[in-house]
Amino acid sequence: MTRSANEPLIGTSPELSAVLRAARLVAITDVPVLVQGESGTGKELLATALHQDSPRRNGPLITVNCAALPETLAESLLYGHRKGAFTGAHNDQIGYVMQADGGTLFLDEVGELPLAIQAKLLRFLESGECQPVGQGVMAKADVRIIAATNRDLAKEVAAGNFRQDLFYRLNVVPLTLPPLRERGEDIALLLHHYTAQIAQHYDLESPRYHKRTLQHLQRYDWPGNVREVRNLCERMVILCSGREIHPENLPQEIRLPRTPDAANPGFQLPPEGVRLDELEVSLIRQALKQTAGNQSRAARLLGLTRDTLLYRLKKYAIE
Ligand SMILES: Nc1ncnc2c1ncn2[C@@H]1O[C@H](COP(=O)(O)OP(=O)(O)OP(=O)(O)O)[C@@H](O)[C@H]1O
Ligand SMILES: [Mg+2]
Repeated sequence: MTRSANEPLIGTSPELSAVLRAARLVAITDVPVLVQGESGTGKELLATALHQDSPRRNGPLITVNCAALPETLAESLLYGHRKGAFTGAHNDQIGYVMQADGGTLFLDEVGELPLAIQAKLLRFLESGECQPVGQGVMAKADVRIIAATNRDLAKEVAAGNFRQDLFYRLNVVPLTLPPLRERGEDIALLLHHYTAQIAQHYDLESPRYHKRTLQHLQRYDWPGNVREVRNLCERMVILCSGREIHPENLPQEIRLPRTPDAANPGFQLPPEGVRLDELEVSLIRQALKQTAGNQSRAARLLGLTRDTLLYRLKKYAIE
């Protein structure tokens, strides 16, 4: 099933809330926004929300998938062309930039843009002018740019794959969506939201998540982020409608902890043995240090619930 694009982003974690706060501030301006984040973290959803919250909301929102722009046609697709400009140009054609006049141009997967096209895009960003292929005079377009990528564009610049000047032009206000594994409290929220929504969509009774099932889901690292949560919910609604979902009902990759491979063995008991309680205190301290004191995230690193971690903090009098 599809989700209507202008629903707001769900989540109450401090990590997501900070991004959404910045997004609301920048939405009302005209400055370019660069949305970064792993696949499935909601970049397109955020881009849509930025447009909807902007004074341009009644104008068009035109999405260009930069990964699918063929180098040879890119200029004509972006800026349009006049009839007869090249073989096959049978009619005047308006480009994406002009289609977005008065609205927003969303450059999705901007990191995939071929270098030759990056230069052309920069020209438009600097001057607001574009020139349809085969037309002598420049045209003006009033367009707000939002770009998104799951690449680290600063690294791409360093590697010579992305123009530095274009990066600076796009990166006026960077918004980076955190991966789901770093916003633990949003996992349960999203699960329940999508389960209810999908059940309603299919006219099925919602399944319920057993406490142990929720623990597995909290611990899992969600490489596909929110998209993966939604897909799991769809599967669970269909397979377990009206029932309680136990860990055994979860897909194997979520249910079974990753087995350490030969090159990276898990913890090995040394022949001389260990002091288990000291080891536990040390691991808890390390987890808290790694997460800058965030107890929910530290608990997840240790495969514990937050309550269990709190109990152990008290037991060992860890500050
Ligand atoms: N915070 C959120 N609340 C609710 N739904 C979300 C949220 N974030 C993402 N989604 C949903 O997850 C799915 C993936 O989101 P989206 O397509 O915006 O991700 P993306 O970052 O653009 O991914 P990709 O890099 O793979 O293109 C969509 O169905 C979207 O509606
Ligand atoms: Mg996307």
